[in-house]
Amino acid sequence: MTPIVTVIGSLNYDLVTFTTRVPRAGETYQASSFETHIGGKGLNEALAVARLSPKNKVITRMVGKIGTDDFGRNLKQCLLEAKVDVEFLETIEGPSGVAVIMVEEDSGENRILITAGANGHLTMSDEEYEKIFDKSVDGKGGFVVLQNEYPDTCKSISWLKENRPQINIAYNPSPFKPELVTRKLWRMIDFLIVNEGEAQDVAKLLLPDVIFEASIEGFKKMAIEIQKLLNQENIQTVVITMGSKGCIYYTGKEEKPSFVKAQKVDKVVDTTGAGDTFFGGVVSNLALGYDISKAISFATIASSLAIQKKGAAEGIPIYSEVIEKLHGVK
Ligand code: RIB
Repeated sequence: MTPIVTVIGSLNYDLVTFTTRVPRAGETYQASSFETHIGGKGLNEALAVARLSPKNKVITRMVGKIGTDDFGRNLKQCLLEAKVDVEFLETIEGPSGVAVIMVEEDSGENRILITAGANGHLTMSDEEYEKIFDKSVDGKGGFVVLQNEYPDTCKSISWLKENRPQINIAYNPSPFKPELVTRKLWRMIDFLIVNEGEAQDVAKLLLPDVIFEASIEGFKKMAIEIQKLLNQENIQTVVITMGSKGCIYYTGKEEKPSFVKAQKVDKVVDTTGAGDTFFGGVVSNLALGYDISKAISFATIASSLAIQKKGAAEGIPIYSEVIEKLHGVK
């Protein structure tokens, strides 16, 4: 059976300014250039899963909402071109989600402000969840990919765990919402991906008595403790991404967490969406049945290619590019 990956979440039109530096409060500063790009964590993740899978080997679906503006039409078109199933992408009256992004040219680092627009209306009734996840979607090994850029993450997690427990819930708690960090909710997550800052915030809230150093060893220790908070029935994996350093992963089955170094690149152009590319790359590999170490190596290459291009969605490479790089084929 072809694995199904369903992404529930945001679609944004990214308004991106490239600048040598970010202005201070009250300051007007001359930027270098301005571009519009396709984005939104949900859309980026869906595109990443679709592009980073071999043709017709994974079914990718996007559940979300767009507005009636041109932005919305462009966002949908981009998904259609990548062969993402948009049956549950609804167009509603009003504006689409927008992200205002500043990218610093020297480092490629970004600062992002999102306005929800149509994403703010993405809430679903039990009947709607039933329709999206009808019995044909209840396949073992399938994934649902979630983040916090829509208001229904908590309901998505609890509905799925109660009604479709075999589907792996893959979750990136970004943007970080402390009210969603509870042991009860975490116990329902099968695959958690957090960056260093998010991992520290989770630890502060759920593991207040444990002291972690801000070092690779400290984050490994944190990975062990966070993994224990997750659902232990399905894929039970935690990944802590550490930007240009690399990432740590742990499933609870290995003796200890593993650290994988990031790929060195000549020039970081734009880091926007690199995390989403990494997330989509890992999930597509896991859905295809590869083990976590293969999935992490694949995603590490995918995100290193993404940061060398401008734009969140546009920077996502395709499967064959990653495979060529992985095997050193020129
Ligand atoms: O993760 C990157 C994304 O965050 C951008 O595409 C932007 O739209 C925001 O959602």
